[in-house]
Amino acid sequence: MTQELAPTLRDQPAARSAGWWRDAVIYQVYVRSFADSDGDGIGDLRGVRDRLPHLADLGVDAVWLTPFYASPQADGGYDVADYRSVDPLFGDLRDAGDLVGEAHRLGLRVIVDIVPNHTSDRHAWFRAALTGGPGAPERGLYHFRPGRGEQGELPPNDWESVFGGPAWTRTDTGDWYLHLFAPEQPDLNWEHPAVREEFTSVLRFWLDLGVDGFRVDVAHGMIKAAGMPDIGMREQAKMIGAQVLPFFDQDGVHEIHRSWRRLLDSYDGERIGVAEAWAPTPERLALYVRPDELHQAFNFQFLTCDWDATAMRGVIDASLAATRSVGAPTTWVLSNHDVVRHTTRYGGGPAGLGRARAAALLALALPGSAYVYQGEELGLPEVADLPDAVRQDPAFFRGDGQDGLRDGCRVPLPWSGSSQPFGFGPGGSWLPQPDSWKELTVEAQTGDPGSTLELYRSAIALRKELPGLGDGEMEWLPAPEGVLAFARPGLVCTLNTLSAKAPLPVPGRPLLSSAALEFTGGTARIPGGTCVWWAV
Ligand code: GLC
Ligand code: MG
Repeated sequence: MTQELAPTLRDQPAARSAGWWRDAVIYQVYVRSFADSDGDGIGDLRGVRDRLPHLADLGVDAVWLTPFYASPQADGGYDVADYRSVDPLFGDLRDAGDLVGEAHRLGLRVIVDIVPNHTSDRHAWFRAALTGGPGAPERGLYHFRPGRGEQGELPPNDWESVFGGPAWTRTDTGDWYLHLFAPEQPDLNWEHPAVREEFTSVLRFWLDLGVDGFRVDVAHGMIKAAGMPDIGMREQAKMIGAQVLPFFDQDGVHEIHRSWRRLLDSYDGERIGVAEAWAPTPERLALYVRPDELHQAFNFQFLTCDWDATAMRGVIDASLAATRSVGAPTTWVLSNHDVVRHTTRYGGGPAGLGRARAAALLALALPGSAYVYQGEELGLPEVADLPDAVRQDPAFFRGDGQDGLRDGCRVPLPWSGSSQPFGFGPGGSWLPQPDSWKELTVEAQTGDPGSTLELYRSAIALRKELPGLGDGEMEWLPAPEGVLAFARPGLVCTLNTLSAKAPLPVPGRPLLSSAALEFTGGTARIPGGTCVWWAV
Protein backbone atom coordinates (compact mmCIF):
# COMPACT_ATOMS: atom_id res chain seq x y z
CA MET A 1 0.00 0.00 0.00
CA THR A 2 2.83 2.39 0.82
CA GLN A 3 3.85 2.18 -2.79
CA GLU A 4 0.53 3.55 -3.94
CA LEU A 5 1.33 6.92 -2.48
CA ALA A 6 4.97 6.92 -3.44
CA PRO A 7 5.81 9.74 -5.80
CA THR A 8 6.68 8.91 -9.37
CA LEU A 9 7.53 12.47 -10.12
CA ARG A 10 10.49 13.05 -12.33
CA ASP A 11 12.79 15.81 -11.27
CA GLN A 12 12.00 18.65 -13.62
CA PRO A 13 14.60 21.33 -13.08
CA ALA A 14 13.84 22.66 -16.55
CA ALA A 15 10.43 23.73 -15.34
CA ARG A 16 12.07 26.13 -12.93
CA SER A 17 13.12 29.45 -14.27
CA ALA A 18 14.25 32.72 -12.80
CA GLY A 19 11.81 35.18 -11.34
CA TRP A 20 11.29 35.73 -7.62
CA TRP A 21 7.58 36.11 -8.20
CA ARG A 22 7.16 32.63 -9.65
CA ASP A 23 6.93 31.10 -6.21
CA ALA A 24 6.74 34.09 -3.87
CA VAL A 25 4.56 34.15 -0.76
CA ILE A 26 2.96 37.58 -0.88
CA TYR A 27 1.28 39.03 2.20
CA GLN A 28 -1.60 41.45 1.75
CA VAL A 29 -1.61 44.40 4.12
CA TYR A 30 -4.95 46.20 4.32
CA VAL A 31 -3.28 49.38 5.53
CA ARG A 32 -6.28 50.80 7.42
CA SER A 33 -6.47 47.67 9.59
CA PHE A 34 -2.91 46.46 10.00
CA ALA A 35 -1.31 48.69 12.66
CA ASP A 36 -1.91 52.25 13.82
CA SER A 37 1.05 54.40 14.85
CA ASP A 38 -0.63 57.68 15.80
CA GLY A 39 -3.62 56.64 17.87
CA ASP A 40 -6.39 57.78 15.53
CA GLY A 41 -7.66 54.21 15.37
CA ILE A 42 -6.78 53.90 11.68
CA GLY A 43 -3.84 51.87 10.47
CA ASP A 44 -1.13 53.86 8.71
CA LEU A 45 2.21 53.52 6.90
CA ARG A 46 4.35 54.05 10.00
CA GLY A 47 2.29 51.39 11.70
CA VAL A 48 3.08 49.01 8.86
CA ARG A 49 6.75 49.89 8.98
CA ASP A 50 6.94 49.26 12.72
CA ARG A 51 5.34 45.84 12.31
CA LEU A 52 7.44 44.67 9.36
CA PRO A 53 9.45 42.36 11.64
CA HIS A 54 6.28 40.27 12.06
CA LEU A 55 6.25 39.73 8.31
CA ALA A 56 9.96 38.99 8.18
CA ASP A 57 9.44 36.41 10.98
CA LEU A 58 6.54 34.92 9.11
CA GLY A 59 8.95 34.44 6.23
CA VAL A 60 6.97 35.99 3.39
CA ASP A 61 8.77 37.35 0.33
CA ALA A 62 6.72 40.42 -0.40
CA VAL A 63 4.06 42.72 0.95
CA TRP A 64 1.17 44.11 -1.06
CA LEU A 65 -0.18 47.36 0.37
CA THR A 66 -3.77 48.37 -0.37
CA PRO A 67 -4.27 52.00 -1.52
CA PHE A 68 -2.90 54.71 0.78
CA TYR A 69 -3.19 57.59 -1.71
CA ALA A 70 -5.04 60.86 -1.16
CA SER A 71 -8.69 59.86 -1.12
CA PRO A 72 -12.02 60.84 0.39
CA GLN A 73 -12.26 57.15 1.41
CA ALA A 74 -15.63 56.54 -0.21
CA ASP A 75 -14.43 52.98 -0.93
CA GLY A 76 -11.60 52.37 1.52
CA GLY A 77 -9.14 54.33 -0.64
CA TYR A 78 -10.07 52.64 -3.95
CA ASP A 79 -11.33 56.12 -4.85
CA VAL A 80 -8.10 57.99 -5.52
CA ALA A 81 -8.07 61.80 -5.69
CA ASP A 82 -4.33 62.15 -6.23
CA TYR A 83 -2.24 59.19 -7.34
CA ARG A 84 1.05 60.83 -6.37
CA SER A 85 0.37 61.69 -2.76
CA VAL A 86 -0.28 59.84 0.47
CA ASP A 87 -3.52 60.51 2.32
CA PRO A 88 -2.82 62.30 5.63
CA LEU A 89 -4.77 59.48 7.31
CA PHE A 90 -1.95 57.12 6.38
CA GLY A 91 1.07 59.43 6.57
CA ASP A 92 3.06 61.18 3.86
CA LEU A 93 5.40 60.42 0.99
CA ARG A 94 8.36 60.24 3.32
CA ASP A 95 6.62 57.50 5.31
CA ALA A 96 6.02 55.63 2.07
CA GLY A 97 9.71 55.90 1.16
CA ASP A 98 10.77 54.86 4.68
CA LEU A 99 8.47 51.87 4.56
CA VAL A 100 9.85 50.68 1.23
CA GLY A 101 13.42 51.22 2.45
CA GLU A 102 12.86 49.34 5.71
CA ALA A 103 11.10 46.49 3.93
CA HIS A 104 14.00 46.11 1.53
CA ARG A 105 16.42 46.13 4.46
CA LEU A 106 14.47 43.18 5.90
CA GLY A 107 14.50 41.38 2.56
CA LEU A 108 10.85 42.05 1.77
CA ARG A 109 9.63 43.39 -1.56
CA VAL A 110 6.79 45.91 -1.70
CA ILE A 111 3.91 45.91 -4.14
CA VAL A 112 1.48 48.80 -4.18
CA ASP A 113 -2.07 48.95 -5.46
CA ILE A 114 -2.85 50.95 -8.56
CA VAL A 115 -6.46 51.89 -9.34
CA PRO A 116 -6.73 52.65 -13.06
CA ASN A 117 -10.37 51.84 -13.82
CA HIS A 118 -11.76 54.85 -11.98
CA THR A 119 -10.72 57.90 -10.01
CA SER A 120 -12.38 59.56 -7.05
CA ASP A 121 -15.07 62.11 -7.88
CA ARG A 122 -12.74 64.56 -6.08
CA HIS A 123 -9.91 63.97 -8.55
CA ALA A 124 -8.94 67.25 -10.25
CA TRP A 125 -9.95 65.84 -13.64
CA PHE A 126 -13.45 64.89 -12.56
CA ARG A 127 -14.00 68.17 -10.73
CA ALA A 128 -13.00 70.06 -13.86
CA ALA A 129 -15.29 67.81 -15.91
CA LEU A 130 -18.23 68.64 -13.67
CA THR A 131 -17.61 72.33 -13.12
CA GLY A 132 -16.67 72.94 -16.75
CA GLY A 133 -20.07 71.72 -17.96
CA PRO A 134 -20.87 69.76 -21.13
CA GLY A 135 -18.15 71.47 -23.19
CA ALA A 136 -15.30 70.81 -20.76
CA PRO A 137 -12.44 68.87 -22.39
CA GLU A 138 -12.05 66.85 -19.15
CA ARG A 139 -15.39 65.19 -19.88
CA GLY A 140 -13.58 63.21 -22.54
CA LEU A 141 -11.45 61.62 -19.82
CA TYR A 142 -14.54 59.91 -18.37
CA HIS A 143 -17.72 58.43 -19.83
CA PHE A 144 -20.39 61.13 -19.98
CA ARG A 145 -23.51 60.35 -22.02
CA PRO A 146 -26.95 61.84 -22.53
CA GLY A 147 -29.77 59.90 -20.89
CA ARG A 148 -32.55 57.98 -22.55
CA GLY A 149 -36.25 58.85 -22.31
CA GLU A 150 -37.97 62.03 -23.46
CA GLN A 151 -36.12 64.28 -21.04
CA GLY A 152 -33.00 62.18 -20.79
CA GLU A 153 -34.28 61.07 -17.42
CA LEU A 154 -33.26 57.41 -17.89
CA PRO A 155 -29.68 56.12 -17.68
CA PRO A 156 -27.87 55.71 -21.04
CA ASN A 157 -27.91 51.91 -20.76
CA ASP A 158 -28.90 49.14 -18.35
CA TRP A 159 -25.51 48.54 -16.77
CA GLU A 160 -25.52 48.02 -13.02
CA SER A 161 -22.90 49.01 -10.48
CA VAL A 162 -21.00 46.17 -8.84
CA PHE A 163 -22.15 47.69 -5.55
CA GLY A 164 -25.84 47.68 -6.60
CA GLY A 165 -28.08 50.19 -8.38
CA PRO A 166 -27.50 51.73 -11.81
CA ALA A 167 -23.92 52.25 -13.01
CA TRP A 168 -24.85 55.81 -14.02
CA THR A 169 -25.41 59.00 -12.05
CA ARG A 170 -27.01 62.10 -13.50
CA THR A 171 -25.18 65.42 -13.27
CA ASP A 172 -26.67 68.87 -12.65
CA THR A 173 -26.42 69.59 -16.35
CA GLY A 174 -28.67 66.62 -17.15
CA ASP A 175 -26.26 64.13 -18.66
CA TRP A 176 -24.97 61.00 -16.96
CA TYR A 177 -21.56 59.57 -16.05
CA LEU A 178 -20.54 55.94 -15.74
CA HIS A 179 -19.32 54.35 -12.50
CA LEU A 180 -19.06 50.58 -12.33
CA PHE A 181 -18.56 50.92 -8.57
CA ALA A 182 -19.79 53.74 -6.27
CA PRO A 183 -20.96 57.09 -7.72
CA GLU A 184 -17.84 58.55 -6.06
CA GLN A 185 -15.75 56.37 -8.43
CA PRO A 186 -16.29 57.64 -12.02
CA ASP A 187 -14.83 55.31 -14.66
CA LEU A 188 -11.99 56.66 -16.75
CA ASN A 189 -12.09 56.59 -20.54
CA TRP A 190 -9.06 54.52 -21.49
CA GLU A 191 -9.55 55.28 -25.18
CA HIS A 192 -8.28 58.80 -24.36
CA PRO A 193 -4.49 59.10 -24.81
CA ALA A 194 -4.16 61.49 -21.85
CA VAL A 195 -5.45 58.79 -19.51
CA ARG A 196 -2.82 56.35 -20.74
CA GLU A 197 -0.04 58.94 -20.49
CA GLU A 198 -1.05 59.93 -17.00
CA PHE A 199 -0.94 56.35 -15.70
CA THR A 200 2.42 55.70 -17.30
CA SER A 201 3.68 58.70 -15.41
CA VAL A 202 2.04 57.57 -12.13
CA LEU A 203 3.57 54.11 -12.44
CA ARG A 204 6.98 55.70 -13.03
CA PHE A 205 6.51 57.85 -9.97
CA TRP A 206 6.15 54.81 -7.69
CA LEU A 207 8.75 52.72 -9.51
CA ASP A 208 11.19 55.57 -9.04
CA LEU A 209 10.34 55.58 -5.33
CA GLY A 210 11.46 51.96 -5.27
CA VAL A 211 8.34 49.81 -5.25
CA ASP A 212 8.71 46.29 -6.66
CA GLY A 213 5.46 46.22 -8.54
CA PHE A 214 1.75 46.85 -8.69
CA ARG A 215 -1.42 45.03 -7.90
CA VAL A 216 -3.69 46.26 -10.67
CA ASP A 217 -7.19 46.94 -9.39
CA VAL A 218 -10.03 45.90 -11.73
CA ALA A 219 -7.49 45.01 -14.42
CA HIS A 220 -10.33 43.56 -16.47
CA GLY A 221 -12.44 46.71 -16.51
CA MET A 222 -10.68 49.56 -18.25
CA ILE A 223 -12.07 48.97 -21.74
CA LYS A 224 -15.82 49.03 -22.41
CA ALA A 225 -17.48 47.42 -25.42
CA ALA A 226 -17.94 49.84 -28.32
CA GLY A 227 -21.34 51.49 -28.23
CA MET A 228 -21.88 50.38 -24.61
CA PRO A 229 -24.67 47.91 -25.46
CA ASP A 230 -27.42 46.93 -23.02
CA ILE A 231 -27.00 43.61 -21.25
CA GLY A 232 -30.70 42.86 -20.99
CA MET A 233 -30.48 41.21 -17.58
CA ARG A 234 -30.67 42.28 -13.96
CA GLU A 235 -28.31 41.29 -11.14
CA GLN A 236 -25.30 41.69 -13.40
CA ALA A 237 -22.88 41.60 -10.45
CA LYS A 238 -23.70 37.90 -10.13
CA MET A 239 -22.37 37.33 -13.66
CA ILE A 240 -18.97 38.85 -12.95
CA GLY A 241 -16.43 36.12 -13.39
CA ALA A 242 -19.03 33.89 -15.04
CA GLN A 243 -19.16 35.51 -18.48
CA VAL A 244 -17.59 38.28 -20.49
CA LEU A 245 -19.64 41.44 -19.93
CA PRO A 246 -19.57 44.57 -22.11
CA PHE A 247 -17.79 46.30 -19.24
CA PHE A 248 -15.58 43.46 -17.95
CA ASP A 249 -12.92 41.27 -19.56
CA GLN A 250 -13.02 43.03 -22.91
CA ASP A 251 -10.08 42.08 -25.13
CA GLY A 252 -8.95 45.70 -25.39
CA VAL A 253 -7.56 45.68 -21.84
CA HIS A 254 -4.65 43.48 -22.88
CA GLU A 255 -2.98 46.18 -24.92
CA ILE A 256 -2.80 48.31 -21.77
CA HIS A 257 -1.21 45.49 -19.81
CA ARG A 258 1.32 44.94 -22.58
CA SER A 259 2.38 48.56 -22.45
CA TRP A 260 2.71 48.35 -18.67
CA ARG A 261 4.85 45.23 -18.97
CA ARG A 262 7.23 47.10 -21.25
CA LEU A 263 7.45 49.84 -18.65
CA LEU A 264 8.06 47.37 -15.79
CA ASP A 265 10.73 45.60 -17.80
CA SER A 266 12.51 48.89 -18.44
CA TYR A 267 13.31 49.02 -14.70
CA ASP A 268 15.85 46.80 -12.99
CA GLY A 269 15.03 44.39 -10.18
CA GLU A 270 12.18 42.35 -11.66
CA ARG A 271 9.27 44.67 -10.93
CA ILE A 272 5.96 42.90 -11.36
CA GLY A 273 2.31 43.47 -12.19
CA VAL A 274 -0.47 41.40 -10.58
CA ALA A 275 -3.91 41.44 -12.14
CA GLU A 276 -7.05 41.59 -10.09
CA ALA A 277 -9.07 40.20 -12.94
CA TRP A 278 -12.40 38.44 -12.75
CA ALA A 279 -12.44 36.34 -15.90
CA PRO A 280 -15.04 33.67 -16.69
CA THR A 281 -12.58 30.82 -17.19
CA PRO A 282 -9.00 29.95 -16.23
CA GLU A 283 -8.16 30.18 -19.94
CA ARG A 284 -9.36 33.76 -20.20
CA LEU A 285 -7.59 34.61 -16.95
CA ALA A 286 -4.37 33.21 -18.39
CA LEU A 287 -4.51 35.84 -21.14
CA TYR A 288 -3.60 38.46 -18.51
CA VAL A 289 -0.35 36.65 -17.73
CA ARG A 290 0.96 35.95 -21.21
CA PRO A 291 4.73 36.49 -21.38
CA ASP A 292 4.34 40.09 -22.54
CA GLU A 293 1.56 41.03 -20.07
CA LEU A 294 1.36 40.98 -16.28
CA HIS A 295 3.27 38.48 -14.13
CA GLN A 296 0.49 37.06 -12.01
CA ALA A 297 -3.31 37.11 -11.73
CA PHE A 298 -5.29 36.27 -8.62
CA ASN A 299 -6.83 32.84 -8.91
CA PHE A 300 -10.36 33.56 -7.70
CA GLN A 301 -11.60 30.18 -8.93
CA PHE A 302 -9.56 28.63 -6.14
CA LEU A 303 -10.86 31.15 -3.62
CA THR A 304 -14.49 30.53 -4.54
CA CYS A 305 -14.16 26.75 -4.77
CA ASP A 306 -16.26 24.69 -2.35
CA TRP A 307 -14.67 22.50 0.30
CA ASP A 308 -14.96 19.40 -1.81
CA ALA A 309 -12.15 17.16 -3.01
CA THR A 310 -13.43 16.69 -6.56
CA ALA A 311 -14.17 20.38 -7.04
CA MET A 312 -10.80 21.38 -5.59
CA ARG A 313 -8.92 18.96 -7.77
CA GLY A 314 -10.78 20.25 -10.82
CA VAL A 315 -9.91 23.87 -10.04
CA ILE A 316 -6.28 23.02 -9.33
CA ASP A 317 -5.93 21.15 -12.62
CA ALA A 318 -7.69 23.84 -14.65
CA SER A 319 -5.66 26.63 -13.04
CA LEU A 320 -2.35 24.89 -13.61
CA ALA A 321 -3.18 23.93 -17.18
CA ALA A 322 -4.23 27.46 -18.07
CA THR A 323 -1.20 29.21 -16.61
CA ARG A 324 1.16 26.52 -17.92
CA SER A 325 -0.14 27.19 -21.43
CA VAL A 326 1.31 30.70 -21.20
CA GLY A 327 4.32 29.87 -19.01
CA ALA A 328 3.08 31.84 -15.99
CA PRO A 329 2.90 30.70 -12.36
CA THR A 330 -0.48 30.02 -10.78
CA THR A 331 -1.45 31.95 -7.66
CA TRP A 332 -3.24 30.41 -4.70
CA VAL A 333 -5.51 32.83 -2.89
CA LEU A 334 -7.88 31.98 -0.03
CA SER A 335 -8.92 35.39 1.27
CA ASN A 336 -8.65 39.12 0.64
CA HIS A 337 -10.28 42.36 1.79
CA ASP A 338 -13.35 41.83 -0.41
CA VAL A 339 -14.52 38.37 0.68
CA VAL A 340 -15.66 36.57 3.82
CA ARG A 341 -12.61 35.18 5.64
CA HIS A 342 -12.08 31.52 4.74
CA THR A 343 -12.20 30.28 8.34
CA THR A 344 -15.84 31.37 8.27
CA ARG A 345 -16.48 30.39 4.65
CA TYR A 346 -15.41 26.85 5.48
CA GLY A 347 -18.07 26.61 8.20
CA GLY A 348 -16.68 28.64 11.11
CA GLY A 349 -15.96 27.36 14.60
CA PRO A 350 -13.30 24.74 15.26
CA ALA A 351 -14.15 22.82 12.07
CA GLY A 352 -13.89 25.96 9.93
CA LEU A 353 -10.58 26.85 11.51
CA GLY A 354 -9.32 23.30 10.98
CA ARG A 355 -10.19 23.45 7.29
CA ALA A 356 -8.65 26.92 6.97
CA ARG A 357 -5.39 25.61 8.44
CA ALA A 358 -5.52 22.65 6.07
CA ALA A 359 -6.25 24.92 3.09
CA ALA A 360 -3.21 27.02 3.96
CA LEU A 361 -0.96 23.95 3.85
CA LEU A 362 -2.57 22.93 0.57
CA ALA A 363 -2.05 26.37 -0.98
CA LEU A 364 1.56 26.51 0.18
CA ALA A 365 2.28 23.04 -1.24
CA LEU A 366 0.87 23.67 -4.71
CA PRO A 367 3.13 24.85 -7.55
CA GLY A 368 3.27 28.61 -7.91
CA SER A 369 2.90 31.68 -5.76
CA ALA A 370 0.69 32.01 -2.67
CA TYR A 371 -1.08 34.99 -1.14
CA VAL A 372 -1.74 35.46 2.57
CA TYR A 373 -4.35 38.02 3.62
CA GLN A 374 -3.49 39.74 6.88
CA GLY A 375 -4.93 37.91 9.85
CA GLU A 376 -5.36 34.56 8.12
CA GLU A 377 -2.05 33.56 9.71
CA LEU A 378 -3.84 34.12 13.03
CA GLY A 379 -6.87 32.09 11.96
CA LEU A 380 -9.12 35.13 12.32
CA PRO A 381 -12.79 34.53 11.59
CA GLU A 382 -15.11 36.98 9.81
CA VAL A 383 -16.69 39.45 12.22
CA ALA A 384 -20.30 38.98 11.25
CA ASP A 385 -22.14 41.05 13.83
CA LEU A 386 -20.77 44.56 13.32
CA PRO A 387 -23.35 47.21 14.20
CA ASP A 388 -24.61 49.07 11.11
CA ALA A 389 -23.46 52.37 12.65
CA VAL A 390 -19.78 51.44 12.37
CA ARG A 391 -19.87 49.98 8.87
CA GLN A 392 -18.05 51.81 6.09
CA ASP A 393 -18.28 49.56 3.04
CA PRO A 394 -20.13 51.43 0.28
CA ALA A 395 -21.52 48.09 -0.90
CA PHE A 396 -23.44 47.91 2.37
CA PHE A 397 -25.19 51.21 1.74
CA ARG A 398 -25.99 50.55 -1.90
CA GLY A 399 -26.68 46.85 -1.82
CA ASP A 400 -29.74 45.10 -0.50
CA GLY A 401 -27.97 44.30 2.76
CA GLN A 402 -27.30 40.74 1.64
CA ASP A 403 -24.18 40.81 -0.48
CA GLY A 404 -21.10 42.91 -0.32
CA LEU A 405 -20.63 43.30 3.43
CA ARG A 406 -16.89 43.65 3.35
CA ASP A 407 -16.22 45.26 6.73
CA GLY A 408 -16.26 41.92 8.54
CA CYS A 409 -12.93 40.88 7.02
CA ARG A 410 -11.39 44.32 7.60
CA VAL A 411 -11.47 44.44 11.39
CA PRO A 412 -8.08 45.64 12.72
CA LEU A 413 -5.54 42.97 13.63
CA PRO A 414 -5.04 41.86 17.24
CA TRP A 415 -1.35 42.06 18.12
CA SER A 416 -1.09 41.75 21.88
CA GLY A 417 -2.75 42.23 25.25
CA SER A 418 -6.11 41.14 26.56
CA SER A 419 -8.38 44.06 25.72
CA GLN A 420 -9.25 46.19 22.70
CA PRO A 421 -7.55 47.40 20.57
CA PHE A 422 -5.17 44.48 21.26
CA GLY A 423 -2.02 46.39 20.45
CA PHE A 424 -3.38 47.65 17.12
CA GLY A 425 -2.27 51.13 18.17
CA PRO A 426 -2.11 53.62 21.02
CA GLY A 427 -5.72 54.71 20.48
CA GLY A 428 -8.79 52.73 19.51
CA SER A 429 -9.71 50.75 16.45
CA TRP A 430 -11.94 51.99 13.62
CA LEU A 431 -14.00 48.80 13.80
CA PRO A 432 -14.62 47.00 17.10
CA GLN A 433 -12.71 43.74 17.62
CA PRO A 434 -14.38 40.76 19.30
CA ASP A 435 -13.24 40.16 22.91
CA SER A 436 -12.47 36.57 22.00
CA TRP A 437 -9.59 37.85 19.86
CA LYS A 438 -7.44 38.08 23.00
CA GLU A 439 -6.74 34.38 22.36
CA LEU A 440 -5.73 35.11 18.77
CA THR A 441 -3.17 37.89 19.15
CA VAL A 442 0.29 37.51 17.63
CA GLU A 443 1.61 37.61 21.18
CA ALA A 444 -0.70 34.85 22.42
CA GLN A 445 0.09 32.57 19.48
CA THR A 446 3.84 33.09 19.32
CA GLY A 447 5.69 30.07 20.65
CA ASP A 448 2.54 27.93 20.94
CA PRO A 449 3.27 24.98 18.65
CA GLY A 450 -0.45 24.31 18.16
CA SER A 451 -1.24 27.86 17.06
CA THR A 452 -2.19 28.85 13.54
CA LEU A 453 0.57 31.46 13.52
CA GLU A 454 3.25 28.86 14.23
CA LEU A 455 1.72 26.57 11.60
CA TYR A 456 2.11 29.33 9.00
CA ARG A 457 5.63 30.14 10.17
CA SER A 458 6.66 26.49 9.91
CA ALA A 459 5.02 25.99 6.54
CA ILE A 460 6.59 29.08 4.99
CA ALA A 461 9.99 28.20 6.45
CA LEU A 462 9.77 24.64 5.09
CA ARG A 463 8.69 25.95 1.73
CA LYS A 464 11.94 27.89 1.56
CA GLU A 465 14.05 24.96 2.72
CA LEU A 466 12.59 22.25 0.52
CA PRO A 467 13.65 22.58 -3.08
CA GLY A 468 10.59 20.66 -4.28
CA LEU A 469 8.10 23.31 -3.18
CA GLY A 470 7.24 26.56 -4.93
CA ASP A 471 7.57 26.67 -8.69
CA GLY A 472 7.62 23.39 -10.61
CA GLU A 473 5.44 20.39 -11.29
CA MET A 474 3.08 18.23 -9.24
CA GLU A 475 1.58 14.82 -9.78
CA TRP A 476 -1.67 13.42 -8.40
CA LEU A 477 -1.43 10.17 -6.46
CA PRO A 478 -4.16 7.61 -5.91
CA ALA A 479 -6.21 8.38 -2.81
CA PRO A 480 -9.53 7.34 -1.28
CA GLU A 481 -12.63 9.36 -2.06
CA GLY A 482 -12.65 12.72 -0.29
CA VAL A 483 -8.87 12.71 0.04
CA LEU A 484 -6.42 14.51 -2.23
CA ALA A 485 -2.83 13.34 -2.49
CA PHE A 486 -0.13 14.73 -4.70
CA ALA A 487 3.62 14.61 -5.02
CA ARG A 488 6.16 17.35 -5.40
CA PRO A 489 9.84 16.42 -5.62
CA GLY A 490 10.76 15.03 -2.20
CA LEU A 491 7.34 15.66 -0.71
CA VAL A 492 3.84 14.26 -0.63
CA CYS A 493 0.87 16.41 0.42
CA THR A 494 -2.37 14.78 1.58
CA LEU A 495 -5.63 16.57 2.33
CA ASN A 496 -8.58 14.88 3.97
CA THR A 497 -11.61 16.99 3.04
CA LEU A 498 -14.07 14.68 4.83
CA SER A 499 -15.30 15.27 8.38
CA ALA A 500 -14.41 11.73 9.40
CA LYS A 501 -10.92 10.33 9.92
CA ALA A 502 -9.32 8.82 6.84
CA PRO A 503 -6.89 5.90 7.15
CA LEU A 504 -3.97 6.23 4.75
CA PRO A 505 -0.87 4.15 4.17
CA VAL A 506 1.97 6.21 5.61
CA PRO A 507 3.59 7.83 2.59
CA GLY A 508 6.73 9.06 4.33
CA ARG A 509 7.98 10.98 7.32
CA PRO A 510 5.42 13.53 8.56
CA LEU A 511 6.92 17.01 8.21
CA LEU A 512 4.01 19.21 9.09
CA SER A 513 0.36 18.59 9.80
CA SER A 514 -2.53 20.98 10.35
CA ALA A 515 -3.87 18.65 13.12
CA ALA A 516 -2.51 15.83 15.26
CA LEU A 517 -2.12 12.45 13.52
CA GLU A 518 -2.52 8.92 14.86
CA PHE A 519 -0.53 5.97 13.59
CA THR A 520 -1.20 2.25 13.74
CA GLY A 521 1.51 0.23 12.10
CA GLY A 522 1.94 1.53 8.56
CA THR A 523 -1.37 3.39 8.62
CA ALA A 524 -1.91 7.03 9.47
CA ARG A 525 -5.33 8.16 10.60
CA ILE A 526 -5.77 11.64 9.19
CA PRO A 527 -8.42 13.64 11.06
CA GLY A 528 -11.22 15.26 9.04
CA GLY A 529 -10.27 18.59 7.49
CA THR A 530 -6.54 18.01 7.83
CA CYS A 531 -3.61 18.52 5.49
CA VAL A 532 -0.25 16.81 5.99
CA TRP A 533 3.14 17.28 4.36
CA TRP A 534 5.26 14.14 4.20
CA ALA A 535 8.95 13.92 3.35
CA VAL A 536 9.67 11.12 0.89
C1 GLC B 1 -11.39 45.92 -6.29
C2 GLC B 1 -10.99 46.11 -4.85
C3 GLC B 1 -12.20 46.50 -4.07
C4 GLC B 1 -12.74 47.80 -4.63
C5 GLC B 1 -12.99 47.69 -6.13
C6 GLC B 1 -13.20 49.03 -6.74
O1 GLC B 1 -12.28 44.88 -6.47
O2 GLC B 1 -10.39 44.94 -4.38
O3 GLC B 1 -11.92 46.63 -2.71
O4 GLC B 1 -13.95 48.12 -3.99
O5 GLC B 1 -11.90 47.11 -6.79
O6 GLC B 1 -12.00 49.74 -6.82
MG1 MG C 1 -3.32 56.11 12.30
